Amino acid sequence: MGEEKKKLFSAVQPSGAVTIGNYIGAIRNFVRLQDEHDCIYAVADLHAITVKQEPAALRRNTLELMALFIACGIDPEKCVLFVQSHVPAHCELTWVLNTIAYPGELSRMTQFKDKSARHADNVNMGLMDYPVLMASDILLYQAALVPVGADQKQHLELTRDLAIRFNNRYSDTFTVPEPFIPKGSGAKIMSLADPTKKMSKSDENPNGFITLSDDKDTIIRKCKRAVTDSGNEVRAAEDKPGVSNLIAIYGAFTGKSAEETEREFAGKGYGDFKVAVGEAIADVLVPMQEEKARILKDKQFLNDVMKKGAEAASRIARRTLSKVYRKVGFYQGE
Ligand code: TRP
Repeated sequence: MGEEKKKLFSAVQPSGAVTIGNYIGAIRNFVRLQDEHDCIYAVADLHAITVKQEPAALRRNTLELMALFIACGIDPEKCVLFVQSHVPAHCELTWVLNTIAYPGELSRMTQFKDKSARHADNVNMGLMDYPVLMASDILLYQAALVPVGADQKQHLELTRDLAIRFNNRYSDTFTVPEPFIPKGSGAKIMSLADPTKKMSKSDENPNGFITLSDDKDTIIRKCKRAVTDSGNEVRAAEDKPGVSNLIAIYGAFTGKSAEETEREFAGKGYGDFKVAVGEAIADVLVPMQEEKARILKDKQFLNDVMKKGAEAASRIARRTLSKVYRKVGFYQGE
């Protein structure tokens, strides 16, 4: 018998385009983690509606993200893969946790403040409650590890606070999760238009980001347009953020170290290097896109995966929820 695997939870919102930054920073790691851990991955559609969504687009994006997860190599036989709204326990636990969460701590969250500013016409209770729903996601599965990027670190801190607060008030109930940065998780990918900013699909300049559905020509065109620095030497350096970012991207897609890349392009200019970066990205993305398209055509298969995933997730979630209901004093029959 092997050591018991640690439970790991993560989720991605089905809110449209996924960039190569999201892929390198999150989704690709999800695949690598599935052998060593007990992984539970969700498509966070409940979170998505905290900002305005076109209903038809949300439905489409949910299916697309599910297909993308599988095309990237997440194996529904190895992990629990499901759609958040298919498991009602997420909303149910959120209600209970709301009674121990303070409006002060929620309104102080950086992401709440940012999103309130960006969506000033739609500052709703869900937007403020977003981190409590996220805490429910994690705590329902008693996850020990949560791979998160810097932008979600504060939400994970709040999850820990809520878990500890509940455990103190009602006795030990939840595993207190740890943030997890997987080994070799790869560099942070910056915008191609402004390498001092993180790559983001909400960049107003579409040349700043590459999405997982960009075709080969688009990828190469965007790489060619990438902002580079003065000089023409392919070398990673602090005063060369543009070239350094391209070297990091090239490394993430080929496995080559910065030194190897510098040697490979010694004596060549930025032009050749940019095309090579584009080709390296396309070599990974194009087969993935074909696989995703194939999966999307097989609705029966996708529905089946979602159904089995929701059942498996519900079994675990129900166990935690009934424990919580008992602890807070809900009468559940004798
Ligand atoms: N808020 C996360 C994001 O936008 C997505 C998410 C929802 C999540 N629930 C989660 C991530 C639980 C980790 C754990 O990136």
